[in-house]
Formats: sequence, structure tokens, C-alpha cells
Amino acid sequence: MNVVILAAGQGKRMYSDLPKVLHPLAGRPLLAHVIATARSLKPGVICIVYGHGGECVRETIAQPDLVWAKQEPQLGTGHALAQALPHLNPRTPTLVLYGDVPLTRTQTLQALCQAAGKGVALLTVELEDPAGYGRIVRSRGKVRRIVEEKDASAAERALREINTGIMVLPTARLKAWLAGLRNKNAQKEYYLTDVVAAAVADKVPVSSAAPAAAWETLGVNSKLQLAELERAFQHGVADALMQQGVTLADPARIDVRGSLACARDVSIDVNCVFEGEVVLGAGVSVGAHCVLRNVKVAAGTRIEPFCHLEQADIGERCRIGPYARLRPGTTLAEEVHIGNFVEVKASQIAARSKANHLAYVGDTTVGRDVNIGAGTITCNYDGANKHRTIIEDEVFIGSDTQLVAPVRVGRGATLGAGTTLTRDAPEGALTVSRAKQVTITGWKRPVKKNKEQK
Ligand code: UD1
Ligand code: CA
Repeated sequence: MNVVILAAGQGKRMYSDLPKVLHPLAGRPLLAHVIATARSLKPGVICIVYGHGGECVRETIAQPDLVWAKQEPQLGTGHALAQALPHLNPRTPTLVLYGDVPLTRTQTLQALCQAAGKGVALLTVELEDPAGYGRIVRSRGKVRRIVEEKDASAAERALREINTGIMVLPTARLKAWLAGLRNKNAQKEYYLTDVVAAAVADKVPVSSAAPAAAWETLGVNSKLQLAELERAFQHGVADALMQQGVTLADPARIDVRGSLACARDVSIDVNCVFEGEVVLGAGVSVGAHCVLRNVKVAAGTRIEPFCHLEQADIGERCRIGPYARLRPGTTLAEEVHIGNFVEVKASQIAARSKANHLAYVGDTTVGRDVNIGAGTITCNYDGANKHRTIIEDEVFIGSDTQLVAPVRVGRGATLGAGTTLTRDAPEGALTVSRAKQVTITGWKRPVKKNKEQK
């Protein structure tokens, strides 16, 4: 089969400099959804018809096996398909999709191809309000032609069966049918929809099929419709997660922009966003208002509310947050605790180590059973280069400590509170850098001058 994706239209009603088909739905361009669906049908060719100024569409999508056909100027959907024709295999049928209709299901398209056989098949739906769409004109039950709303008579406008635009066509016939199109219509465009009457005239059978759900054929013309389809998509994701056994506090308040794989007994509170590839192990719980991007979380770990986790690998039975930030390159072994207002970057933390409050751990290797006190900061950046800090097993770091990298803290060492560590701390010993505490007896607190005069 050939698939042609029409994507040259302007998208004026988006009021955006970004081409319409690049607007994201669930974190991916609309067009990328359509391409993924097309791929699921294993076609011989996927040809995308794109418009002028649309080079950035090509560059953004950048999948090497796609065929691109430029349509300039845009003279209508029939003219658009004609640009793709030289790239199509005439011996197999052609499926036409729209780049701004992102949620059509594979099964729906397979059924449409079945319905087509060697002829034409149209994907149609009955709408309460068919305004704006092309209407399917039948006589004695058989499809005769499609009439665009702007060209329709009052009687035709009353028809409620509409053309979704998605159709299967016999490729070998297209050359003649497309060459025969005329633009003598209300929009002065070459309508692809006119090939239906041509097929009927040539006695090529024209059939129709319907999608399982109407939202499968909805297109995006405005930000309003984009938001509606985003919710439809997210509802589908939430349903699938719950069917696998995931507990969602509210299926209307989750956003998955990529893939989310969950083992048994995962629970997710409201307003969490999952981006890229996220994997949650058995029994993991994610608190409200968390963002997880490309994160792996092992079994039994609890993520408290308001965490921001990116490119991190989190071990079993850890406790993260509330208000924790894990940045790229973070690896935590089992039972690590990362508490509120703690930021970890490009660091490996071994089993049972804890940084429970207000700390920055960057470019650091932390051993097991380490305690990192509140206010501890690894000074990893000297203004030009980044340096590593090594903290060995069973170290205890007192509060408000700065570790000026590169520096090593030996196994079992203790750093006194307030230490600014600029040289390695030997293992097993207490290291402290701190001005000596003095008490001045007999010292009097100054009093305000005018008060004294009174
Ligand atoms: C089209 C159909 C109409 C159908 C409706 C469904 C025609 C003549 N009409 O109308 O029957 O009910 O879709 O939404 O086909 N495009 C190009 N090049 C062009 C014009 C359009 O690539 O020159 C692309 C657009 O990017 C879009 C698709 O074709 O993806 C449909 O274009 P649009 O202008 O939305 O079609 P309608 O006029 O709404
Ligand atoms: Ca149009």
C-alpha cells in the first residue's frame, strides 16, 4: 500500500508561526502521530505533501525513509495528491491521511482498506452538526459523489453523513482522475473529493466505512480543538493504565507525553506529567504534582509531591521528596532518601545514604550509609571547569558544609558542621574548619543613643 499524508495547508486559525502539523499533541508533533499510525499499516511508501515555508516540517520530522512532495502553491486537496503521485506504486492502493488528524486508529484504517478492495472507500461519519464538511451524496444507498459545503444546495447541506477526508483509492486510476479535476467551484480549488464522481462514472465501486469513535477523525484547526484532542488522547492513556491495574487518583488529571510503563500496584496522584520514557516498578507511588522525564523507578519507591525528576535511575524502596529535584545523570541505589529542596546532578549515591534537607550534590560519587546534613553543598564549579567530589561509605557530613571539588572524604570520616573542605578529609577522623568559638564575658550590648539621653 501507499500512504499519502496531506500536510501543506496553512493552519491560519492556529495564529502561530509554527506550522500547524508541528504543534504538539502528547508531546509529539501532530504529523508524527499520523506517521506512526501510517507505519503501523506497513506501507511500501509514506509520502508527505508539504507546503512552502515548510522546510522546517521536513527538518523536524527527519525520518530517513519518508518521501516528501512539495506543493506550491496550494491549489486544493486534489492538487496536493497529484504532487505525490509520481512517488506512488501504481500496483497497490493509496490511503490518503491528513497531517492534522492525529488520532485515527490502525483498526479503523485496516477496515477501510478491506472495504475498498480494488475500488474506492471513504471513511465517513454521521454528525449532529455537519457544518463545514463535505457531504456524502447517495442514491439508492450507493455513494454517488461528495459535495463541499460551499457548493452544496440546501437539500445537500441537510445531509448529515460527512467526508472525513480519509480515503483509499486505486492508484492506477489516479492519474486520469486527478488530471480530470477542474477548479470551477466556490473555492476555486482542485478538490480531491471530485474523484468520487469520476470513480462512479468509470463504474469503479465506491464503498464507505465508519470509525469506532468519532474523535478518531477530528482534525485540529484551532488551539481549542488541539486541547480537546489532547484530552481525548490522555483519557485513552488513562483508561489503558487503569485497565492494567494502575491506580489513578483522577484519570482526568494525568498527562503522558511519551511512554509510561507500570508494573503492579503503581499509584499516581493528581496532576503528574510523564515525558519521554518513564518506567515505574511494582508498588511505586507518585505523589501529586510531579514531573518525571526519562526516569526509571524501581520497586517500592515512594515519590512525594512536587518533585522534578529528569534522566534519573532510582533504586528500590527509595524516598524522594517532597520538593526534590533529580537532574540528568543521577543514579540512586536502594533505600536512598532525597528530601525537600535537595538537588542532585550527575551523581551516584549508594545504598541507604540520605540527603534529607536543603542540599546540592553535583558531580559526586557517594558511598553507602552516608548522611549528608542540611545545607551541604558540593562546590563542583570553579567558574571554568567542573570537578568531582568523592564521599566514601559511612561518612557523616555536618550541616552547612561546603565541599570544594575536587575533594575526597575518606571512609567513615565525619565533617563538622560549617566546614569548608578544600583538602581531602582522611578516613575515620573528624575534620572541621571553623573559626574558634569565643565568649567575651562582661561585654555589654549597645543601646540606642537617644534612649540613653532620656
Ligand atoms: C476537506 C474535504 C472535505 C472534508 C474535510 C474534512 C476536500 C475538497 N474537502 O475539506 O470534504 O469534509 O476536508 O476535514 O478535500 N491540504 C493540502 N494542500 C491543499 C489543501 C489542503 O495539503 O492545497 C491539506 C491540509 O493541510 C489538510 C487537508 O489537506 O491536512 C485538508 O485540507 P482542509 O483545507 O482542512 O480541507 P477542507 O476544506 O476542510
Ligand atoms: Ca480548504
